[in-house]
Amino acid sequence: MKKQAFKPKIKGTNQRLRRLNRFYLFNLRNLLILVLWLAGCGETAVPTPTPTATLPPSTAVSQLAPTPTLIVSPTAVATQPPEPTATPSPDGLSIGDPYAPELGNAGYDVTHYTLILALDPAVENIDATVEIRGVVTAPALAALSLDFVGFEVTEALLDGQPVAFAHENDKLILFPAQPLAENSPFALSISYAGDPVERPSPYVGFAAAVGMSFVNGESIYVLSEPDGSRFWFPNNDHPRDKATYRFEITVPQGLTAVANGLLIDQIDGADSSTFIWEHNHLMASYLATVVVGEFERLENRSPEGVLLRHYVTDTARGEFATAVADLGEAIDWMSELFGPYPYEAFGFVTADVSGVSLETQTMVLLANNMIGEITVMHELAHMWFGNWVSLDSWQQMWRNEGFATYVQLMWENRDDPEELELTMEAVRSAVEDNGDGFPLGNPPPAQLFSFNTYFGGALFVHELRQEMGDEAFFSGLQTYFATYGGGTASDDEFRAVMETAVGRSLDDFFAEWLE
Ligand code: TRP
Ligand code: ZN
Repeated sequence: MKKQAFKPKIKGTNQRLRRLNRFYLFNLRNLLILVLWLAGCGETAVPTPTPTATLPPSTAVSQLAPTPTLIVSPTAVATQPPEPTATPSPDGLSIGDPYAPELGNAGYDVTHYTLILALDPAVENIDATVEIRGVVTAPALAALSLDFVGFEVTEALLDGQPVAFAHENDKLILFPAQPLAENSPFALSISYAGDPVERPSPYVGFAAAVGMSFVNGESIYVLSEPDGSRFWFPNNDHPRDKATYRFEITVPQGLTAVANGLLIDQIDGADSSTFIWEHNHLMASYLATVVVGEFERLENRSPEGVLLRHYVTDTARGEFATAVADLGEAIDWMSELFGPYPYEAFGFVTADVSGVSLETQTMVLLANNMIGEITVMHELAHMWFGNWVSLDSWQQMWRNEGFATYVQLMWENRDDPEELELTMEAVRSAVEDNGDGFPLGNPPPAQLFSFNTYFGGALFVHELRQEMGDEAFFSGLQTYFATYGGGTASDDEFRAVMETAVGRSLDDFFAEWLE
């Protein structure tokens, strides 16, 4: 992390720091970011601010030191950065992300998933058939592997015919009778059932488990970033392989099933209802979501016409209305800055989960105890940063969380650049005092979603903006979305776009921040 010389406080700074302090206190009570920060600090000492620091107050920090459930599990703490495998593995069992070689598979490209799920919150069980359409990209594909943890696979079909398969080490591997020829399309159908395996992710210390969770026999939600989608459906679990989605979710009558994209149909049976959702834009597996519960649907449009639809539990209504009061204005404001909102619709689904929210594409999961404008704007910003342009490697998480945090702060201070500047000065002190002691561009897995990733990332973004000047910075970002929208980009690709926009090398500047 770049260290800045101490800057004397200028007039008004104390007030801004107090304001940011309140922001932190609010976070400490209600928000993901500080939960993440505390969780990230969980296996080392909780940071104690230096005496000069006003942020965050040590009393608040010590009072809110992570409870055991927030601490990364022992196995997760022990996890070391995996051995790099820079390119897809020859056996196809890795897509080639050196940071997370266990995720994703090579040799094919999924184009579409259809998830047919029978779910009942009262029964911890998924009964499913998942249809996967794709194209072979390897010269001759003898084995096609998917990421998939747990369940009993009852049937696997390839182009309508039963196909041999093996299911071990978190991979479901299909063995076609003949190797599949390059460029040939294929259709898989995989049927399975069972109680989802619950296992903490080495990357996610603040959630007990990733994947699909059943709450009190009443509701169901999904948390999949970065490695949880394989705990509820077989897929190529890496953002390098995006696809479109259809969901056919059957739930007991009276409950609503929510997923990504648009609700196409609701078919009511005698004692169940099937909800059909379609998302016709490319989406990374970890952004696919299913939420089941009792909801009210709220619908609206932004001034520029973007469809906003939300699924909100009764008890959350009032708070939710306040949190999204400026959402339409904000989505148009971000569209203006980064390029048109990329999807059919946007909105939130509230869930009975504590302290985490997730930017699930077009239908953001919003924890019932995190409803507020800060979270709303942070997750909205992810629709561009992370969703429309996704990470080529999980190692580069700063680009997701740093930008989402910065855009949220930009929105908050949109009428007052000086205020933003002062806020960023306060962020700088907090990052300097509580930085995690690892390079922003290479966090240990257990620190992937740490304070540093969020606020160190936001600080880097702010400094990049100052380094480039507003014109080059924002035109660079627009080019980045126009070039890589719908796909992924690496830090190097991002840097190259920004270099073209500013007309000079940013190599040293990036290296200073990331390495
Ligand atoms: N991306 C989320 C956010 O900041 C945080 C997050 C990462 C998360 N992994 C998660 C939340 C897993 C819940 C579960 O908006
Ligand atoms: Zn985020």
